[in-house]
Amino acid sequence: MPYTPSSQDVTQLPSWQALREQRQTLEGFSLRQAFTDDPQRFARFSLDDCGLFLDYSKNLIDVRTRSLLVELAREAGLAEAIAALFDGAQVNASERRPALHTALRRPLGERVLVDGVDVMPQVHRALQRMSELVGRVHHGLWRGYSDKPITDVVNIGIGGSFLGPQLVSEALLPFAQRGVRCHYLANIDGSSFQELAAKLCAETTLFIVSSKTFGTLETLKNAQAARGWYLAQGGSEEELHRHFMAVSSNVEAACAFGIREENILPMWDWVGGRYSLWSAIGLPIAMSIGISNFKELLTGAYRMDRHFQQAPFERNMPLLLAMLGVWYGNFWGAQSHAILPYDHYLRNITKHLQQLDMESNGKRVRQDGSALQIASGPVIWGGVGCNGQHAYHQLLHQGTLLIPADFIVPVSSYNPVADHHQWLFANCLSQSQALMLGKSHAEAEAELRAQGLSEAEVQRLAPHKVVPGNRPSNTLVLERVSPGRLGALIALYEHKVFVQSVIWGINAFDQWGVELGKELGKGVYSRMVGSDLSGAEDASTQGLIDFFRSHHRG
Ligand code: F6P
Repeated sequence: MPYTPSSQDVTQLPSWQALREQRQTLEGFSLRQAFTDDPQRFARFSLDDCGLFLDYSKNLIDVRTRSLLVELAREAGLAEAIAALFDGAQVNASERRPALHTALRRPLGERVLVDGVDVMPQVHRALQRMSELVGRVHHGLWRGYSDKPITDVVNIGIGGSFLGPQLVSEALLPFAQRGVRCHYLANIDGSSFQELAAKLCAETTLFIVSSKTFGTLETLKNAQAARGWYLAQGGSEEELHRHFMAVSSNVEAACAFGIREENILPMWDWVGGRYSLWSAIGLPIAMSIGISNFKELLTGAYRMDRHFQQAPFERNMPLLLAMLGVWYGNFWGAQSHAILPYDHYLRNITKHLQQLDMESNGKRVRQDGSALQIASGPVIWGGVGCNGQHAYHQLLHQGTLLIPADFIVPVSSYNPVADHHQWLFANCLSQSQALMLGKSHAEAEAELRAQGLSEAEVQRLAPHKVVPGNRPSNTLVLERVSPGRLGALIALYEHKVFVQSVIWGINAFDQWGVELGKELGKGVYSRMVGSDLSGAEDASTQGLIDFFRSHHRG
Protein backbone atom coordinates (compact mmCIF):
# COMPACT_ATOMS: atom_id res chain seq x y z
CA MET A 1 0.00 0.00 0.00
CA PRO A 2 1.77 3.20 -1.12
CA TYR A 3 2.04 5.93 1.48
CA THR A 4 1.82 9.63 0.74
CA PRO A 5 3.56 11.44 3.55
CA SER A 6 2.34 14.91 4.24
CA SER A 7 4.45 17.45 2.34
CA GLN A 8 3.39 20.33 4.54
CA ASP A 9 6.00 22.48 6.26
CA VAL A 10 5.34 21.75 9.91
CA THR A 11 6.71 25.13 10.95
CA GLN A 12 3.88 26.82 9.07
CA LEU A 13 1.17 25.04 11.02
CA PRO A 14 -0.87 27.28 13.34
CA SER A 15 0.04 25.16 16.37
CA TRP A 16 3.78 25.48 15.58
CA GLN A 17 3.42 29.25 15.46
CA ALA A 18 1.44 29.17 18.72
CA LEU A 19 4.13 27.03 20.32
CA ARG A 20 6.76 29.58 19.32
CA GLU A 21 4.78 32.23 21.17
CA GLN A 22 4.22 29.86 24.05
CA ARG A 23 7.95 29.36 24.32
CA GLN A 24 8.35 33.14 24.78
CA THR A 25 5.56 33.20 27.35
CA LEU A 26 7.30 30.45 29.32
CA GLU A 27 10.69 32.17 29.29
CA GLY A 28 10.61 32.73 33.04
CA PHE A 29 8.64 29.55 33.82
CA SER A 30 9.59 28.06 37.16
CA LEU A 31 8.90 24.40 37.88
CA ARG A 32 9.20 25.08 41.61
CA GLN A 33 6.56 27.76 41.31
CA ALA A 34 4.35 25.61 39.09
CA PHE A 35 4.25 22.89 41.78
CA THR A 36 3.51 25.48 44.48
CA ASP A 37 0.74 27.07 42.43
CA ASP A 38 -0.96 23.85 41.39
CA PRO A 39 -1.38 21.10 44.00
CA GLN A 40 -2.84 18.91 41.25
CA ARG A 41 0.18 19.20 38.97
CA PHE A 42 1.42 15.64 39.59
CA ALA A 43 -2.04 14.19 38.94
CA ARG A 44 -2.54 16.45 35.94
CA PHE A 45 0.70 15.41 34.28
CA SER A 46 0.94 11.69 34.98
CA LEU A 47 -0.43 8.54 33.39
CA ASP A 48 -0.76 4.88 34.31
CA ASP A 49 -1.21 2.28 31.57
CA CYS A 50 0.22 -0.99 30.24
CA GLY A 51 2.02 -1.61 33.54
CA LEU A 52 3.95 1.65 33.26
CA PHE A 53 3.48 4.76 35.34
CA LEU A 54 4.68 7.95 33.66
CA ASP A 55 5.23 11.11 35.67
CA TYR A 56 5.88 13.97 33.28
CA SER A 57 5.01 16.75 35.71
CA LYS A 58 8.66 17.86 35.99
CA ASN A 59 8.61 19.35 32.50
CA LEU A 60 8.67 22.97 31.37
CA ILE A 61 5.02 22.89 30.40
CA ASP A 62 1.65 24.05 31.54
CA VAL A 63 -1.76 22.83 30.46
CA ARG A 64 -1.79 25.15 27.46
CA THR A 65 1.60 23.86 26.27
CA ARG A 66 0.34 20.30 26.41
CA SER A 67 -2.76 21.26 24.44
CA LEU A 68 -0.65 22.98 21.80
CA LEU A 69 1.72 20.02 21.52
CA VAL A 70 -1.23 17.68 21.11
CA GLU A 71 -2.70 20.06 18.55
CA LEU A 72 0.58 20.00 16.64
CA ALA A 73 0.44 16.20 16.51
CA ARG A 74 -3.10 16.46 15.14
CA GLU A 75 -2.27 19.10 12.56
CA ALA A 76 0.78 17.12 11.43
CA GLY A 77 -1.52 14.23 10.54
CA LEU A 78 -0.50 11.82 13.29
CA ALA A 79 -3.82 9.96 13.39
CA GLU A 80 -3.51 9.12 9.68
CA ALA A 81 0.17 8.22 10.09
CA ILE A 82 -0.60 5.80 12.95
CA ALA A 83 -3.26 4.13 10.82
CA ALA A 84 -0.79 3.89 7.92
CA LEU A 85 1.89 2.34 10.17
CA PHE A 86 -0.40 -0.36 11.55
CA ASP A 87 -2.15 -1.06 8.26
CA GLY A 88 1.09 -1.84 6.44
CA ALA A 89 1.34 1.24 4.23
CA GLN A 90 4.82 1.97 2.87
CA VAL A 91 5.84 4.33 5.65
CA ASN A 92 9.43 3.51 4.70
CA ALA A 93 8.97 5.42 1.47
CA SER A 94 12.59 5.50 0.27
CA GLU A 95 12.71 1.70 0.28
CA ARG A 96 9.02 1.35 -0.61
CA ARG A 97 8.40 -0.88 2.40
CA PRO A 98 5.97 -1.03 5.27
CA ALA A 99 7.36 -1.12 8.82
CA LEU A 100 5.32 -3.86 10.40
CA HIS A 101 7.05 -4.68 13.67
CA THR A 102 3.58 -4.28 15.23
CA ALA A 103 2.36 -7.30 13.21
CA LEU A 104 4.91 -9.43 15.07
CA ARG A 105 3.03 -8.98 18.33
CA ARG A 106 -0.51 -9.25 17.05
CA PRO A 107 -2.54 -12.30 18.01
CA LEU A 108 -3.45 -14.92 15.44
CA GLY A 109 -6.76 -14.10 13.85
CA GLU A 110 -5.92 -10.48 13.14
CA ARG A 111 -5.11 -9.70 9.52
CA VAL A 112 -2.24 -7.58 8.22
CA LEU A 113 -1.82 -7.34 4.47
CA VAL A 114 1.46 -6.81 2.65
CA ASP A 115 1.03 -6.67 -1.12
CA GLY A 116 -2.40 -8.21 -0.66
CA VAL A 117 -1.09 -11.18 1.37
CA ASP A 118 -1.99 -11.66 5.02
CA VAL A 119 1.36 -11.98 6.83
CA MET A 120 -0.06 -13.11 10.16
CA PRO A 121 0.04 -16.86 9.36
CA GLN A 122 3.79 -16.64 8.52
CA VAL A 123 4.44 -14.60 11.67
CA HIS A 124 2.79 -17.24 13.82
CA ARG A 125 4.42 -20.10 11.92
CA ALA A 126 7.80 -18.60 12.73
CA LEU A 127 6.79 -18.26 16.37
CA GLN A 128 5.74 -21.91 16.37
CA ARG A 129 9.11 -22.93 14.92
CA MET A 130 10.87 -20.87 17.57
CA SER A 131 8.77 -22.59 20.20
CA GLU A 132 9.73 -26.05 18.89
CA LEU A 133 13.42 -25.18 18.74
CA VAL A 134 13.45 -23.71 22.21
CA GLY A 135 11.59 -26.76 23.51
CA ARG A 136 14.14 -29.09 21.94
CA VAL A 137 17.07 -27.19 23.43
CA HIS A 138 15.44 -26.80 26.86
CA HIS A 139 14.49 -30.46 27.06
CA GLY A 140 17.90 -31.67 26.01
CA LEU A 141 16.62 -33.07 22.71
CA TRP A 142 18.82 -30.81 20.60
CA ARG A 143 22.27 -32.21 21.17
CA GLY A 144 25.75 -31.34 20.04
CA TYR A 145 28.14 -33.53 18.05
CA SER A 146 29.13 -35.57 21.09
CA ASP A 147 25.48 -36.04 22.05
CA LYS A 148 25.61 -33.68 25.00
CA PRO A 149 22.74 -31.21 25.52
CA ILE A 150 23.22 -27.54 24.63
CA THR A 151 24.27 -25.33 27.54
CA ASP A 152 25.33 -22.13 25.75
CA VAL A 153 23.75 -20.17 22.93
CA VAL A 154 25.84 -17.56 21.15
CA ASN A 155 24.04 -14.93 19.13
CA ILE A 156 26.28 -13.65 16.34
CA GLY A 157 24.80 -10.40 15.08
CA ILE A 158 25.18 -6.65 15.31
CA GLY A 159 22.97 -3.54 15.49
CA GLY A 160 19.34 -4.53 15.67
CA SER A 161 20.32 -8.18 15.48
CA PHE A 162 22.13 -7.73 18.79
CA LEU A 163 21.06 -4.76 20.92
CA GLY A 164 17.37 -5.59 21.37
CA PRO A 165 17.91 -9.31 22.08
CA GLN A 166 20.77 -8.50 24.46
CA LEU A 167 18.73 -5.90 26.33
CA VAL A 168 15.78 -8.24 26.79
CA SER A 169 17.57 -11.47 27.61
CA GLU A 170 19.75 -9.71 30.18
CA ALA A 171 16.87 -7.64 31.61
CA LEU A 172 14.83 -10.79 32.09
CA LEU A 173 17.55 -12.88 33.67
CA PRO A 174 15.29 -13.60 36.67
CA PHE A 175 13.04 -15.42 34.17
CA ALA A 176 15.85 -17.52 32.69
CA GLN A 177 14.99 -21.19 32.32
CA ARG A 178 16.77 -24.48 32.11
CA GLY A 179 20.17 -22.94 32.67
CA VAL A 180 20.81 -22.10 29.01
CA ARG A 181 23.34 -19.28 28.99
CA CYS A 182 23.11 -16.59 26.27
CA HIS A 183 26.12 -14.79 24.88
CA TYR A 184 26.43 -12.06 22.28
CA LEU A 185 29.15 -11.62 19.71
CA ALA A 186 28.77 -8.40 17.76
CA ASN A 187 31.96 -6.47 17.14
CA ILE A 188 34.59 -7.56 14.61
CA ASP A 189 37.18 -7.24 17.36
CA GLY A 190 39.16 -10.46 17.80
CA SER A 191 39.46 -9.78 21.52
CA SER A 192 35.70 -10.10 22.05
CA PHE A 193 35.75 -13.35 20.05
CA GLN A 194 38.67 -14.85 21.96
CA GLU A 195 37.34 -13.85 25.36
CA LEU A 196 33.99 -15.45 24.63
CA ALA A 197 35.45 -18.58 23.02
CA ALA A 198 37.58 -19.17 26.11
CA LYS A 199 34.37 -19.58 28.15
CA LEU A 200 32.70 -22.03 25.76
CA CYS A 201 32.78 -25.74 25.09
CA ALA A 202 32.22 -26.52 21.39
CA GLU A 203 30.35 -29.76 22.18
CA THR A 204 27.56 -27.90 24.00
CA THR A 205 27.44 -24.56 22.17
CA LEU A 206 24.83 -23.50 19.62
CA PHE A 207 25.57 -20.49 17.42
CA ILE A 208 22.72 -18.42 16.01
CA VAL A 209 23.88 -16.32 13.07
CA SER A 210 21.43 -13.47 13.28
CA SER A 211 21.41 -11.18 10.28
CA LYS A 212 18.46 -9.87 8.34
CA THR A 213 20.59 -9.37 5.23
CA PHE A 214 23.19 -12.06 5.89
CA GLY A 215 25.59 -9.60 4.33
CA THR A 216 26.90 -7.72 7.35
CA LEU A 217 30.70 -7.81 7.51
CA GLU A 218 31.07 -8.08 11.29
CA THR A 219 28.52 -10.89 11.53
CA LEU A 220 29.91 -12.90 8.64
CA LYS A 221 33.47 -12.60 9.93
CA ASN A 222 32.43 -13.69 13.42
CA ALA A 223 30.37 -16.55 11.99
CA GLN A 224 33.40 -17.74 9.98
CA ALA A 225 35.60 -17.45 13.07
CA ALA A 226 33.04 -19.42 15.09
CA ARG A 227 32.93 -22.16 12.47
CA GLY A 228 36.74 -22.33 12.41
CA TRP A 229 36.83 -22.52 16.20
CA TYR A 230 34.16 -25.24 16.28
CA LEU A 231 36.11 -27.35 13.77
CA ALA A 232 39.39 -26.78 15.59
CA GLN A 233 37.77 -27.91 18.85
CA GLY A 234 36.83 -31.30 17.38
CA GLY A 235 33.55 -30.60 15.60
CA SER A 236 33.06 -31.87 12.07
CA GLU A 237 31.48 -30.45 8.91
CA GLU A 238 28.89 -33.28 9.01
CA GLU A 239 27.74 -32.30 12.49
CA LEU A 240 27.83 -28.54 11.83
CA HIS A 241 24.04 -28.42 11.59
CA ARG A 242 23.85 -29.30 15.29
CA HIS A 243 25.79 -26.16 16.18
CA PHE A 244 24.84 -23.49 13.68
CA MET A 245 21.50 -21.99 12.84
CA ALA A 246 20.48 -18.67 11.34
CA VAL A 247 17.78 -16.06 11.39
CA SER A 248 17.68 -14.19 8.13
CA SER A 249 15.57 -12.98 5.23
CA ASN A 250 18.42 -14.06 2.93
CA VAL A 251 18.02 -17.84 3.02
CA GLU A 252 20.26 -18.32 -0.02
CA ALA A 253 23.25 -16.62 1.60
CA ALA A 254 22.68 -18.46 4.89
CA CYS A 255 22.61 -21.80 3.00
CA ALA A 256 25.73 -20.82 1.06
CA PHE A 257 27.44 -20.27 4.41
CA GLY A 258 26.66 -23.89 5.25
CA ILE A 259 23.58 -23.62 7.39
CA ARG A 260 20.86 -26.17 6.66
CA GLU A 261 17.63 -24.68 5.34
CA GLU A 262 15.59 -26.29 8.13
CA ASN A 263 17.83 -24.47 10.61
CA ILE A 264 17.05 -21.03 9.16
CA LEU A 265 14.28 -19.00 10.73
CA PRO A 266 12.70 -16.24 8.66
CA MET A 267 12.93 -12.46 8.80
CA TRP A 268 11.09 -10.15 6.47
CA ASP A 269 12.06 -6.95 4.73
CA TRP A 270 9.01 -5.29 6.26
CA VAL A 271 10.67 -5.44 9.68
CA GLY A 272 13.51 -3.01 10.36
CA GLY A 273 16.61 -4.33 12.15
CA ARG A 274 16.17 -2.08 15.19
CA TYR A 275 12.53 -3.15 15.46
CA SER A 276 13.20 -6.86 15.04
CA LEU A 277 13.58 -8.29 18.54
CA TRP A 278 9.92 -9.36 18.35
CA SER A 279 10.66 -11.66 15.41
CA ALA A 280 12.85 -14.77 15.25
CA ILE A 281 15.75 -12.35 15.80
CA GLY A 282 14.49 -12.67 19.39
CA LEU A 283 15.36 -16.38 19.39
CA PRO A 284 18.20 -15.95 21.94
CA ILE A 285 15.67 -14.22 24.20
CA ALA A 286 13.31 -17.18 23.93
CA MET A 287 16.24 -19.58 24.45
CA SER A 288 16.95 -17.79 27.69
CA ILE A 289 13.48 -17.12 29.14
CA GLY A 290 11.36 -19.73 27.37
CA ILE A 291 8.64 -19.27 24.80
CA SER A 292 5.81 -18.42 27.24
CA ASN A 293 7.76 -15.51 28.64
CA PHE A 294 8.68 -14.46 25.10
CA LYS A 295 4.98 -14.42 24.28
CA GLU A 296 4.36 -12.31 27.40
CA LEU A 297 6.89 -9.85 26.04
CA LEU A 298 4.94 -9.71 22.77
CA THR A 299 1.68 -9.27 24.67
CA GLY A 300 3.11 -6.34 26.62
CA ALA A 301 4.18 -4.66 23.40
CA TYR A 302 0.77 -5.39 21.87
CA ARG A 303 -0.90 -3.68 24.81
CA MET A 304 1.21 -0.61 24.18
CA ASP A 305 0.30 -0.79 20.48
CA ARG A 306 -3.37 -0.73 21.39
CA HIS A 307 -2.81 2.14 23.80
CA PHE A 308 -0.98 4.07 21.09
CA GLN A 309 -3.77 3.48 18.60
CA GLN A 310 -6.69 4.07 20.92
CA ALA A 311 -5.80 6.38 23.81
CA PRO A 312 -6.85 9.98 23.34
CA PHE A 313 -3.89 12.11 22.32
CA GLU A 314 -3.94 13.98 25.67
CA ARG A 315 -3.44 10.68 27.49
CA ASN A 316 -1.32 8.88 24.93
CA MET A 317 2.02 7.92 26.47
CA PRO A 318 4.20 7.58 23.35
CA LEU A 319 2.70 10.74 21.92
CA LEU A 320 3.33 12.77 25.06
CA LEU A 321 6.94 11.59 25.37
CA ALA A 322 7.49 12.36 21.70
CA MET A 323 5.95 15.81 21.80
CA LEU A 324 7.96 16.72 24.90
CA GLY A 325 11.05 15.80 22.89
CA VAL A 326 9.86 18.04 20.04
CA TRP A 327 9.21 20.82 22.55
CA TYR A 328 12.77 20.73 23.89
CA GLY A 329 14.53 19.97 20.61
CA ASN A 330 12.72 22.44 18.39
CA PHE A 331 11.71 25.19 20.80
CA TRP A 332 14.35 25.13 23.57
CA GLY A 333 17.40 24.08 21.55
CA ALA A 334 18.09 20.82 23.42
CA GLN A 335 20.44 18.62 21.40
CA SER A 336 20.60 15.53 23.52
CA HIS A 337 18.38 13.38 25.68
CA ALA A 338 19.53 11.24 28.59
CA ILE A 339 18.14 7.79 29.35
CA LEU A 340 18.84 6.91 32.98
CA PRO A 341 17.69 3.45 34.09
CA TYR A 342 17.92 2.87 37.84
CA ASP A 343 18.07 -0.89 37.52
CA HIS A 344 20.91 -3.27 36.88
CA TYR A 345 18.74 -5.44 34.64
CA LEU A 346 17.80 -2.48 32.44
CA ARG A 347 21.42 -1.40 32.06
CA ASN A 348 21.43 -2.02 28.30
CA ILE A 349 18.30 -0.03 27.53
CA THR A 350 20.27 3.12 26.77
CA LYS A 351 22.26 1.31 24.06
CA HIS A 352 19.12 -0.15 22.51
CA LEU A 353 17.31 3.20 22.55
CA GLN A 354 20.39 4.84 21.07
CA GLN A 355 20.11 2.69 17.97
CA LEU A 356 16.32 2.83 17.91
CA ASP A 357 16.18 6.61 18.10
CA MET A 358 19.38 7.75 16.41
CA GLU A 359 19.29 5.32 13.48
CA SER A 360 15.60 6.11 12.98
CA ASN A 361 15.51 9.86 13.39
CA GLY A 362 19.08 10.85 12.65
CA LYS A 363 17.98 12.26 9.30
CA ARG A 364 18.42 15.55 7.44
CA VAL A 365 15.87 15.29 4.65
CA ARG A 366 12.15 14.77 4.72
CA GLN A 367 10.29 11.85 3.15
CA ASP A 368 10.03 13.83 -0.11
CA GLY A 369 13.80 14.46 -0.20
CA SER A 370 13.61 18.14 0.67
CA ALA A 371 16.07 19.44 3.26
CA LEU A 372 14.79 19.57 6.81
CA GLN A 373 14.93 23.14 8.12
CA ILE A 374 14.57 22.25 11.79
CA ALA A 375 16.38 19.94 14.21
CA SER A 376 15.54 16.23 14.00
CA GLY A 377 16.59 13.46 16.40
CA PRO A 378 18.77 14.28 19.42
CA VAL A 379 21.82 12.47 20.70
CA ILE A 380 20.61 9.71 22.99
CA TRP A 381 22.99 8.85 25.79
CA GLY A 382 23.08 7.93 29.45
CA GLY A 383 23.58 4.88 31.58
CA VAL A 384 22.65 3.14 34.74
CA GLY A 385 22.06 5.07 37.97
CA CYS A 386 23.58 5.57 40.54
CA ASN A 387 26.84 5.17 38.60
CA GLY A 388 26.05 8.18 36.41
CA GLN A 389 25.51 10.36 39.48
CA HIS A 390 29.18 9.99 40.30
CA ALA A 391 30.20 10.77 36.73
CA TYR A 392 28.20 12.83 34.24
CA HIS A 393 25.25 14.01 36.35
CA GLN A 394 27.41 17.00 37.34
CA LEU A 395 26.89 18.34 33.82
CA LEU A 396 23.16 17.67 34.02
CA HIS A 397 22.95 19.72 37.22
CA GLN A 398 25.36 22.58 36.60
CA GLY A 399 26.44 22.47 32.96
CA THR A 400 25.34 25.04 30.42
CA LEU A 401 23.36 22.59 28.27
CA LEU A 402 19.70 21.78 28.59
CA ILE A 403 19.44 18.00 28.63
CA PRO A 404 16.01 16.49 29.23
CA ALA A 405 16.20 13.09 30.93
CA ASP A 406 14.07 9.97 31.28
CA PHE A 407 14.46 8.17 34.60
CA ILE A 408 13.34 4.54 34.46
CA VAL A 409 12.96 2.66 37.73
CA PRO A 410 11.23 -0.44 39.10
CA VAL A 411 9.53 -0.31 42.50
CA SER A 412 10.81 -3.74 43.53
CA SER A 413 14.04 -5.62 43.06
CA TYR A 414 14.47 -9.30 42.26
CA ASN A 415 17.56 -9.32 44.43
CA PRO A 416 16.87 -7.38 47.61
CA VAL A 417 19.96 -6.74 49.69
CA ALA A 418 19.31 -4.95 53.00
CA ASP A 419 17.76 -1.58 52.09
CA HIS A 420 19.68 -1.15 48.81
CA HIS A 421 16.61 -0.95 46.65
CA GLN A 422 15.03 1.72 48.84
CA TRP A 423 18.23 3.74 48.45
CA LEU A 424 18.37 3.11 44.70
CA PHE A 425 14.79 4.30 44.30
CA ALA A 426 15.42 7.29 46.58
CA ASN A 427 18.44 8.26 44.52
CA CYS A 428 16.42 8.14 41.34
CA LEU A 429 13.72 10.41 42.77
CA SER A 430 16.18 12.80 44.38
CA GLN A 431 18.05 13.22 41.10
CA SER A 432 14.97 14.35 39.21
CA GLN A 433 14.03 16.47 42.23
CA ALA A 434 17.45 18.13 42.31
CA LEU A 435 17.32 18.78 38.57
CA MET A 436 13.95 20.41 39.02
CA LEU A 437 14.40 22.31 42.31
CA GLY A 438 18.03 23.32 42.00
CA LYS A 439 19.59 25.54 44.67
CA SER A 440 19.27 29.31 44.41
CA HIS A 441 22.04 31.80 45.18
CA ALA A 442 20.24 32.85 48.36
CA GLU A 443 19.93 29.22 49.47
CA ALA A 444 23.60 28.60 48.74
CA GLU A 445 24.56 31.68 50.79
CA ALA A 446 22.32 30.65 53.68
CA GLU A 447 23.80 27.15 53.68
CA LEU A 448 27.36 28.49 53.79
CA ARG A 449 26.54 30.97 56.54
CA ALA A 450 24.98 28.17 58.56
CA GLN A 451 28.33 26.40 58.33
CA GLY A 452 29.90 29.42 60.08
CA LEU A 453 31.95 30.63 57.12
CA SER A 454 33.11 34.24 56.90
CA GLU A 455 31.12 36.53 54.64
CA ALA A 456 34.07 36.68 52.21
CA GLU A 457 34.09 32.88 52.00
CA VAL A 458 30.32 32.82 51.57
CA GLN A 459 30.58 35.20 48.60
CA ARG A 460 33.52 33.31 47.11
CA LEU A 461 31.81 29.92 47.26
CA ALA A 462 28.15 30.72 46.66
CA PRO A 463 28.33 30.93 42.82
CA HIS A 464 29.91 27.48 42.68
CA LYS A 465 27.19 26.03 44.87
CA VAL A 466 24.29 27.37 42.85
CA VAL A 467 22.35 24.70 40.94
CA PRO A 468 20.06 26.41 38.44
CA GLY A 469 17.33 23.76 38.57
CA ASN A 470 14.29 23.98 36.30
CA ARG A 471 15.77 21.10 34.32
CA PRO A 472 13.14 18.79 32.87
CA SER A 473 12.71 15.06 33.27
CA ASN A 474 10.22 12.23 32.95
CA THR A 475 10.05 9.36 35.39
CA LEU A 476 8.82 5.96 34.23
CA VAL A 477 8.04 3.59 37.07
CA LEU A 478 7.47 -0.15 36.69
CA GLU A 479 6.29 -2.32 39.51
CA ARG A 480 8.98 -4.87 38.56
CA VAL A 481 10.78 -5.64 35.33
CA SER A 482 8.64 -8.40 33.83
CA PRO A 483 8.35 -9.67 30.23
CA GLY A 484 5.03 -7.86 29.74
CA ARG A 485 6.14 -4.54 31.19
CA LEU A 486 9.44 -4.64 29.35
CA GLY A 487 7.59 -5.31 26.09
CA ALA A 488 5.38 -2.29 26.76
CA LEU A 489 8.37 -0.14 27.67
CA ILE A 490 10.29 -0.91 24.48
CA ALA A 491 7.18 -0.47 22.32
CA LEU A 492 6.56 2.86 24.07
CA TYR A 493 9.89 4.16 22.80
CA GLU A 494 9.37 2.69 19.33
CA HIS A 495 6.17 4.67 19.02
CA LYS A 496 7.71 7.77 20.53
CA VAL A 497 10.34 7.69 17.78
CA PHE A 498 7.63 7.20 15.14
CA VAL A 499 5.58 10.16 16.37
CA GLN A 500 8.62 12.41 16.18
CA SER A 501 9.40 11.23 12.66
CA VAL A 502 5.87 12.19 11.64
CA ILE A 503 6.23 15.68 13.13
CA TRP A 504 9.53 16.20 11.33
CA GLY A 505 8.22 14.58 8.14
CA ILE A 506 11.15 12.15 7.95
CA ASN A 507 11.47 8.43 7.27
CA ALA A 508 12.22 6.61 10.54
CA PHE A 509 12.74 3.28 8.83
CA ASP A 510 15.69 3.63 6.48
CA GLN A 511 19.37 4.14 7.43
CA TRP A 512 21.29 5.16 4.32
CA GLY A 513 23.78 7.12 6.40
CA VAL A 514 25.50 3.97 7.63
CA GLU A 515 26.27 2.78 4.09
CA LEU A 516 29.01 5.25 3.10
CA GLY A 517 31.36 4.12 5.87
CA LYS A 518 30.79 0.48 4.87
CA GLU A 519 31.59 1.24 1.21
CA LEU A 520 34.73 3.23 2.00
CA GLY A 521 35.81 0.52 4.45
CA LYS A 522 36.41 -1.89 1.56
CA GLY A 523 38.81 0.50 -0.16
CA VAL A 524 40.65 1.30 3.05
CA TYR A 525 41.01 -2.42 3.84
CA SER A 526 42.39 -3.20 0.35
CA ARG A 527 45.01 -0.48 0.72
CA MET A 528 45.94 -1.61 4.22
CA VAL A 529 46.57 -5.19 3.14
CA GLY A 530 48.28 -4.10 -0.06
CA SER A 531 45.81 -5.55 -2.56
CA ASP A 532 45.15 -2.02 -3.84
CA LEU A 533 48.29 -0.01 -4.43
CA SER A 534 46.54 3.23 -5.34
CA GLY A 535 46.60 6.07 -2.84
CA ALA A 536 43.64 6.90 -0.63
CA GLU A 537 41.35 9.77 -1.54
CA ASP A 538 42.86 12.03 1.11
CA ALA A 539 46.23 12.48 2.84
CA SER A 540 44.92 11.89 6.34
CA THR A 541 43.50 8.46 5.55
CA GLN A 542 46.63 7.56 3.54
CA GLY A 543 48.88 8.71 6.39
CA LEU A 544 46.97 6.52 8.84
CA ILE A 545 47.10 3.55 6.45
CA ASP A 546 50.88 4.02 6.17
CA PHE A 547 51.16 4.16 9.94
CA PHE A 548 49.20 0.91 10.24
CA ARG A 549 51.33 -0.79 7.61
CA SER A 550 54.59 0.18 9.26
CA HIS A 551 53.54 -0.65 12.84
CA HIS A 552 51.05 -3.55 12.59
CA ARG A 553 52.13 -6.67 14.51
CA GLY A 554 49.02 -8.82 14.75
O1 F6P B 1 24.44 -1.03 9.44
C1 F6P B 1 23.25 -0.80 10.10
C2 F6P B 1 22.38 -2.01 10.09
O2 F6P B 1 21.85 -2.21 8.84
C3 F6P B 1 21.28 -1.91 11.15
O3 F6P B 1 20.20 -1.19 10.73
C4 F6P B 1 21.01 -3.35 11.41
O4 F6P B 1 20.30 -3.52 12.60
C5 F6P B 1 22.40 -3.90 11.46
O5 F6P B 1 23.10 -3.18 10.45
C6 F6P B 1 22.54 -5.38 11.22
O6 F6P B 1 22.03 -5.77 10.00
P1 F6P B 1 21.79 -7.29 9.64
O7 F6P B 1 20.76 -7.82 10.58
O8 F6P B 1 21.30 -7.30 8.23
O9 F6P B 1 23.08 -8.01 9.79
